Amino acid sequence: MSEKKYGIFYGSTTGSTEGVAKKLAEVLNVAAEDVHNIAETSPVKFGEYDYILAGTSTWGSGEVQDDWYDALDGMEALVLKGKKVAVFGCGDENMSDTFCGAVGVLYKKFAQTGAEMKGQFNAEGYVFEDSEARISDDLMCGLVLDEVNKPELTDGRIKEWVKTL
Ligand SMILES: Cc1cc2nc3c(=O)[nH]c(=O)nc-3n(C[C@H](O)[C@H](O)[C@H](O)COP(=O)(O)O)c2cc1C
Repeated sequence: MSEKKYGIFYGSTTGSTEGVAKKLAEVLNVAAEDVHNIAETSPVKFGEYDYILAGTSTWGSGEVQDDWYDALDGMEALVLKGKKVAVFGCGDENMSDTFCGAVGVLYKKFAQTGAEMKGQFNAEGYVFEDSEARISDDLMCGLVLDEVNKPELTDGRIKEWVKTL
């Protein structure tokens, strides 16, 4: 695990991804002031951190949580070269064709900034048909969680995921 400065950014409608962001902060020893609701911050803030953890739940049909839209628009010209980024988020395995798809959307957006993408996670144990968050047969692009149906798996997955950072 890196000793660098983490900034956690999340978008969350009903509180699931917010809760995960706070759990990650606890596990990684990140101060509350470095945990940001993307609804209340701007992409300029990414510049303050060496290591960005970006989280979103999935809405619509594989789309990012509403509060991410402005930030993603503002990211087109952002260069995050030299920084590390890992993505996470919540979804519902019953939305089997778009499970946590928004996490994949975030992953692609951040990858375009030149940041080094970290936190790819074993796809084993997830049950879904398709997802933009899957980057190979074996790997998800980041930490995907189902707080609707399988909340009991969250803490263990967080513990495993932080080892990949
Ligand atoms: C209208 C609606 C659409 C949703 N669409 C998806 C989806 O396409 N894929 C998915 O994995 N989860 C989907 N979900 C599930 C949410 O992502 C899930 O409830 C999540 O825990 C919400 O997290 P939040 O409270 O951080 O926003 C949807 C939920 C609702 C109510």
